[in-house]
Amino acid sequence: MSLFSIVFLIIIFILTFAFLSLAIAGISFAPWVPTSKKDIKRIIEIAQIKDGQVVYDLGCGIGTVIFAITKQLPVQAVGIERAWPLFLICSARKNFYSLKGAARFEFGNLFKKDLSGADVIYIFGMPGKVMQKLKPKMEKELKKGTKIISYVFPVEGWKESGVDKINGRPSIYLYIKE
Ligand SMILES: C[S@@+](CC[C@H](N)C(=O)[O-])C[C@H]1O[C@@H](n2cnc3c(N)ncnc32)[C@H](O)[C@@H]1O
Repeated sequence: MSLFSIVFLIIIFILTFAFLSLAIAGISFAPWVPTSKKDIKRIIEIAQIKDGQVVYDLGCGIGTVIFAITKQLPVQAVGIERAWPLFLICSARKNFYSLKGAARFEFGNLFKKDLSGADVIYIFGMPGKVMQKLKPKMEKELKKGTKIISYVFPVEGWKESGVDKINGRPSIYLYIKE
């Protein structure tokens, strides 16, 4: 077998595993669709994040929200991502920015992570998965006063503490754990 064939097979192998990893994450919680940068200001405003708070993005993609927040605010942001190609991208991106806050990325399944240390949770996931698996986990695990920001979709059954609706833009919902 020539060197060219070996390199070609390695590339096909890596691409297949990358695709599978993205597909599994897509089914698990949501496929990768980044939050629009146009909405970051709205997210920060509705969340009223305070200095030093711990902010989680559950399924952080390439870190769009984590970097936007830590560039502006001295917070501790944690991004959890299950798809390894996206996890590698956000981990690499960290080296290119000067951040006011601290950004940390964890590889793995958000449904298996301990969320009890969070002050703010950001979610952009499929409503069915949030309702089935994430909502009961958050009800059990989050400390009182934790803010949950849901992008685009409301969390059914929870009373919202705020909602930001603008014509032509996705809605942003705020919940506070009682
Ligand atoms: C709709 S995207 C949101 C990305 C990012 N939060 C943003 O707003 O830009 C959902 C993300 O969740 C990730 N994901 C899906 N299932 C997951 C799981 N079980 N654990 C961790 N991440 C997951 C996907 O790979 C994808 O990057």
